[in-house]
Amino acid sequence: MPIAHLPFFGRQFDEDFPAEGWALKEAIESADGLLVVTPEYNRSIPGVLKNAIDWATRPPGRSSFTNTPTGVIGASRGAISTAVAQAHLKSILVAQGAPLVGRPEAYIRITDDFFTDDGQVASESTRRFLTGFLEALRDLVDRWS
Ligand SMILES: Cc1cc2nc3c(=O)[nH]c(=O)nc-3n(C[C@H](O)[C@H](O)[C@H](O)COP(=O)(O)O)c2cc1C
Repeated sequence: MPIAHLPFFGRQFDEDFPAEGWALKEAIESADGLLVVTPEYNRSIPGVLKNAIDWATRPPGRSSFTNTPTGVIGASRGAISTAVAQAHLKSILVAQGAPLVGRPEAYIRITDDFFTDDGQVASESTRRFLTGFLEALRDLVDRWS
């Protein structure tokens, strides 16, 4: 579900939690597993993603990430891709009690020829790698259920 429309989280919402906050939590909690795909903004995750995470961890004691098997993956053009953003994101999710895909790590570096004209991943080996990542997430979901 879209996250850009969520207001900035503030403590006042703990007392009066709005429907869009519950909708986000319901989307996460009804899933077998979660795949978070992120770019990197200034060596961290984008503010819009952090805000959505803050919403999903509230009201107090009701974090939607606890026991939700989760994979983290990211792509950017930078030399170290999204490694720093993903490290931040994983430490947030671990603190929320989310079981994470540890391996493989997926730091996808985007180049001009990364996608074909019809939007497919051009490299066969990258496609295989991404499929392997999704299989690792599926295995985590299976182990957790
Ligand atoms: C404010 C801002 C900060 C960014 N900081 C980084 C960064 O620290 N490291 C990085 O690899 N890419 C950085 N990028 C590039 C993004 O990760 C991403 O590759 C780029 O925005 C292209 O993705 P998009 O077409 O979805 O916007 C930044 C982009 C923006 C807009």
